[in-house]
Amino acid sequence: CGIVGLISKTDIVDGLVNGLEKLEYRGYDSAGIFVDSNGTKDYLIKTKGGIKELKSEMMTTGNVRGTRGIGHTRWATHGFPTKENAHPHVSYDGRFVLVHNGVIENFQMIQSDLLQTDWMQGQTDTEMIVHLIAKFAQEDHLSAKEAFLKVLAMIEGSYAFALIDRLEPEVLYGAKNKSPLLVAIGDQFNGLCSDALAMTGLTQEFMEIKDKELIIATKDTVTIENYEGHHQSRKSFEFSTGSNEIELGSYDCYMMKEIEEQPAVMRKIVSAYTTENGQVAIDERIISSLLASDRIYIIACGTSWHAGLIGKNLLEKLAEIPTEVHLSSEFGYHTPLLSEKPFFIYLSQSGETADSRQVLVQTNKWAYPSLTITNVLGSTLSREASFTLPLYAGPEIAVASTKAYTAQIAVLSILASVVGRAKKIMAAETFDVASELSLAAHQMDTLLTKQGKYQDLVEKMLKQTRNAFFIGRGADYSVSLEGALKLKEISYLQCEGFASGELKHGTIALIEERTPVFALITGQSTHLQTRSNLKEVESRGAATCAIVMEDLAQEGDDIILPKVHELFTPLMSVLPTQLIAYYTALMKGNNVDKPRNLAKSVTVE
Ligand code: G6P
Repeated sequence: CGIVGLISKTDIVDGLVNGLEKLEYRGYDSAGIFVDSNGTKDYLIKTKGGIKELKSEMMTTGNVRGTRGIGHTRWATHGFPTKENAHPHVSYDGRFVLVHNGVIENFQMIQSDLLQTDWMQGQTDTEMIVHLIAKFAQEDHLSAKEAFLKVLAMIEGSYAFALIDRLEPEVLYGAKNKSPLLVAIGDQFNGLCSDALAMTGLTQEFMEIKDKELIIATKDTVTIENYEGHHQSRKSFEFSTGSNEIELGSYDCYMMKEIEEQPAVMRKIVSAYTTENGQVAIDERIISSLLASDRIYIIACGTSWHAGLIGKNLLEKLAEIPTEVHLSSEFGYHTPLLSEKPFFIYLSQSGETADSRQVLVQTNKWAYPSLTITNVLGSTLSREASFTLPLYAGPEIAVASTKAYTAQIAVLSILASVVGRAKKIMAAETFDVASELSLAAHQMDTLLTKQGKYQDLVEKMLKQTRNAFFIGRGADYSVSLEGALKLKEISYLQCEGFASGELKHGTIALIEERTPVFALITGQSTHLQTRSNLKEVESRGAATCAIVMEDLAQEGDDIILPKVHELFTPLMSVLPTQLIAYYTALMKGNNVDKPRNLAKSVTVE
C-alpha cells in the first residue's frame, strides 16, 4: 500500500492525488482520500479500484478542495478489496481519520479485548486502530497525540500511519515502524509519503523517519519525536527524478516500452560504470569489503531472486566467491548456517520490499557488510545498506518486471568482473565485460525487431490451455523460472519453470496432448540433453517451442537467439519469454501493466 498526507497554506488536492498515482505501484485494489480546510467543509472519497476510479468518484462529488488531506492506495491484506475496507478509515465518533501501510500482527487480540463490535464497518486492522485512538481520547480524556501514542505502544507489526484529528485542523500526525515513511518539506507546506517519488512534483527535500518515531507536522513546521517524547533532530536530503522517463510516449502500455528499453539500459549501465580512463569500475570500498568476505548471500524476491540466480553464476565464475541465493521471506526466519565472513547483496528493483528489508535489519544488527543493488536510489534498502549500486534502468512502471531483471544481471556481471580482476582470476581477466554487454545490447535490439511471430505463436500454443512449462538446464533453468513467473503474472496461466532433466522424475505425468512446453537451449554443455528432454515430452503429445542460441540451432527450431557470450545468454533468452507473456496477456484481454492481485512492490511481509 502507499500513503500520502499534505498540510498547506493552499489547496492540496492535486498534490495528494498525483502523489497517490505515483504510489500505485504499491497496490491498486482500492483507493481513497480525506480532505478538509480549517475545520470547514470536508470530503471522504473512497473507491474500489485504482486512482483512475478515485478521480472519477471525485468528479462525481465535484469541486473537492482543501488545505489538509491524507490518501491511500491499497494492496489488500486484511479484508477484501471493497469500498468499506478502503482507507482512509474514520473513528466511530467521526473525530479521527487514518491511513495505514503495513500489517498489525496483534490486531485480533486487541480487537476482541477493547473494541465494540458495532464500531467496525469493515474487516481491516487499520479501522481498529482509528477506533482505539478515539476510544482512548474520549474515555481517558487524552489529546490526539497522547491517544495516538497509547495505541502505538500497544500494537505490534509493521505500519506507516498518517492521522488527522478533525478537532486540530492545523496538524497532521504520522508514525512508523518497519513500513517506509518520509516527510516531504515544502514552502508553506509539509507532507508525509511512502516514498519520495510521490512528492517529486512538489518538492525535492525530504526527511527520513526511523522506526518508532512520531511526526507532528503543520504547514510551517515538522517535529519528530520518539515514543518516549524526546525530540529527534534530522537532516533533510534531496531527491529528484527525471519525470519525462515516466511518459508512455507512443506505447499502449509500459511493459512493452520497458521490454524495448532493455538494449538502451544495457548501454546506459556500461557507460555509467565506465570511468574517465575507459575502464569499468566499482566503488573501491565495495570491492575491498567483498575481497575480505568468504561467501556472498544474495537476498531477493520474485524476479529479483531470479536475477540473483544468474548473479550467482557470474560471481562464482568470474570472481570465484561461493555465492548462495535466498528468498528474503525464507531467509529472515529460517536463517541457514552462515560462513565466517558473509557479504550480503540485496537485489531489489524498488528498494522497498518488506521481506528483503526485514533481512537487512537483521544483518545490520549482526554488523555484516551489505550492498543493495536497486533501481531506486534513496529507497529504504539503499539507505539502510552499507553500500548501494544503481541499476540505471529508469523508472519501471509495469508490475511485471522486465528491464530491471536484465539490468540486475548486467550490474552483477560488472561487479563480478571487477572483483575477479582484482583477484587476478583468469576468467575475469579474459572477459571484457563492457564490450560483451555492448554486444548483448546490439543483439537484443536485433531480437526485439523480430516480434512478428509471437502473436501467432501464442495463439497456437497458449489459447486453449490452462497450463504451460518452460524448461532448461543451468542458466536456462533459471531463466525458465523467470519466464514462467512472467506468464503467470500477466496471463494468469498455471505455468512452471522446470529443470529439464528433472521432468522425467515425476512432473512429466502432467504432459498431455497439446500441453505447451517451451525449451530454452543456450548452454554448450547441455544443449543435447535438453533437446532429448524436449523429444520426451513431444512423444507424449506436448506442443513444443525451442528457443535456441544461434550456434546451437537446428532446422525446425522456433526462435533463434543472436549469439552473445556464454555468460550472457540469459540476457537474450529472457526476451522471448517476456514477449510470450506480453502477447498472451494481450490475447486474453488482460490489463498488461496492472495484473490482478499484484503490486509492483509489496511493502508488507
Ligand atoms: C513484487 C512484484 C514482483 C517483484 C517482487 C520483488 O512481488 O510484483 O514483480 O519481482 O515484488 O520486488 P523488488 O522491488 O524487491 O525487486
